[in-house]
Amino acid sequence: MFVRVRTSTLLGVAALPVDVEVDAASGFPRSLLVGLAGGAVQEALVRVGAAVRNLGFKLPSKRITVNLAPADLRKEGTGFDLPIAVALLAACGLLPPRPLEGLHLCGELSLSGEVRPVRGVLPMAVAALRDGARAFLSPAGNALEAAAVEGLVVHPVRHLGEIVAWADGRGRLGAPPGPERQLELPGGALDLRDVAGQGGAKRALEIAAAGDHNLLLFGPPGSGKTMLARRLPGLLPPLGRDEALEATTVHSVAGLLRDRGLLVERPFRAPHHSISDAGLVGGSSTPRPGEVSLAHRGVLFLDELPEFRRHVLESLRQPLEEGDVVLSRAGRTVHYPAEFQLVAAMNPCPCGFLGDPRRACLCGDEQLLRYRRRVSGPILDRIDLHVDVPAVPCEELSLAGQGEGTAEVAARVGRARRLQVERGCANARLRGGALRRTCGLDPAAREVLSRAARRLGLSARAHDRILRVARTIADLEGAARVEARHLLEAVQYRALDRPAATEATEATR
Ligand SMILES: Nc1ncnc2c1ncn2[C@@H]1O[C@H](COP(=O)(O)OP(=O)(O)OP(=O)(O)O)[C@@H](O)[C@H]1O
Ligand SMILES: [Mg+2]
Repeated sequence: MFVRVRTSTLLGVAALPVDVEVDAASGFPRSLLVGLAGGAVQEALVRVGAAVRNLGFKLPSKRITVNLAPADLRKEGTGFDLPIAVALLAACGLLPPRPLEGLHLCGELSLSGEVRPVRGVLPMAVAALRDGARAFLSPAGNALEAAAVEGLVVHPVRHLGEIVAWADGRGRLGAPPGPERQLELPGGALDLRDVAGQGGAKRALEIAAAGDHNLLLFGPPGSGKTMLARRLPGLLPPLGRDEALEATTVHSVAGLLRDRGLLVERPFRAPHHSISDAGLVGGSSTPRPGEVSLAHRGVLFLDELPEFRRHVLESLRQPLEEGDVVLSRAGRTVHYPAEFQLVAAMNPCPCGFLGDPRRACLCGDEQLLRYRRRVSGPILDRIDLHVDVPAVPCEELSLAGQGEGTAEVAARVGRARRLQVERGCANARLRGGALRRTCGLDPAAREVLSRAARRLGLSARAHDRILRVARTIADLEGAARVEARHLLEAVQYRALDRPAATEATEATR
């Protein structure tokens, strides 16, 4: 007998429907799996055989053929176990096939028949809905993500036996997860008020949040760089539903979502500096999203930037430029989204105390040069704001808890961002003609910028960076045009060559 059930396979962050066809015919007993199945899929027959046996079924001695169609689409992952098991039981006459019609299902099986979570259930549920599925049977551990897809009936499944009992009319499928469990409650948000002093760095954080600018925090150990970076997501507007779906999909495909529904907070990813390029931008033999994609719609924080290996940092260029990662492996190309805001932190020198009034720096010139050179060039060019975070005097630390908090700053940020939405583009993404049109300067402002450019020997890139930041400063004020004072502030966010920047600012006053 021949039976077909529906499931899907992942390609990047999308899932494509797949038919699992099982034919049980008389003849020399053997089982065969065809249809461009990857390694984990090939092993499915072993797991399925054991699970079915341990459920008390004795499979008849038949020629079993399992086909995964379309046959020219490569299938990966362990989610085929459950659909194969169910179709096999039906094909062997051990389960009525009727109830399986119109269902989508996926899940890995243990040898005892337990249904284990798999990667990518959220996009698979989206594929099921598009495919017109009557219901989606999800591993119980992934049911909350599947239930995030509106309009789809989701039944969590814990054991193969549940489906057998239901199809036989002896039991019911698990109830769909209630909507109240689909939302993850925001954890105690980190408040900007906890950071004592650091007025300049807080202001830069506000500008970064308001214009989507990448940010480099530059200062001695313990000055609060990590603390500040962690407070950026709180300044950004909450994730909209579409953004939440996009971000959650990446986490689902990476298999990091276990037992959670839609993300409600913007992702904040802080990979260690020992990370590989595959870990950062994605890859390995079966493509997986890297940290840049896990940070999609949120913040990627690279602490101790110069400690990252050079080629790892270089791999950031494309995602920074295009908001997207393209991976080509074994003749396939997949895309992962990677629209994130980069916050990087570094010490001024290897020992961390260069320019610190409290302690002498022990680094030699050569050492210092080598340290700085590790992050010079194209990556720094893509970071609009370079900000000094000096050590806070001990007596000032007691002032933490005072001043403006996240809520007030986020309100200003929200207003500035809405102006950019109306214009159609976040300031950080303004380039070329759009940049010049959006940042019309009056004569005084033009004079300030050209004087700064001459004094600092600004490259065209640096010049554009200053214009973009100045536009955001003007937006925070609600000013229609970029004026001289906005530019004067923008010129200062260049900590890596701060002595020169300060000089120029003074000169242009
Ligand atoms: N401005 C500040 N206000 C309040 N607490 C602070 C401040 N700066 C530092 N701290 C305290 O010091 C700790 C270390 O700060 P943080 O980790 O942010 O420093 P850092 O600049 O990232 O240091 P490193 O360069 O070593 O990574 C914080 O957990 C916090 O308790
Ligand atoms: Mg730190």
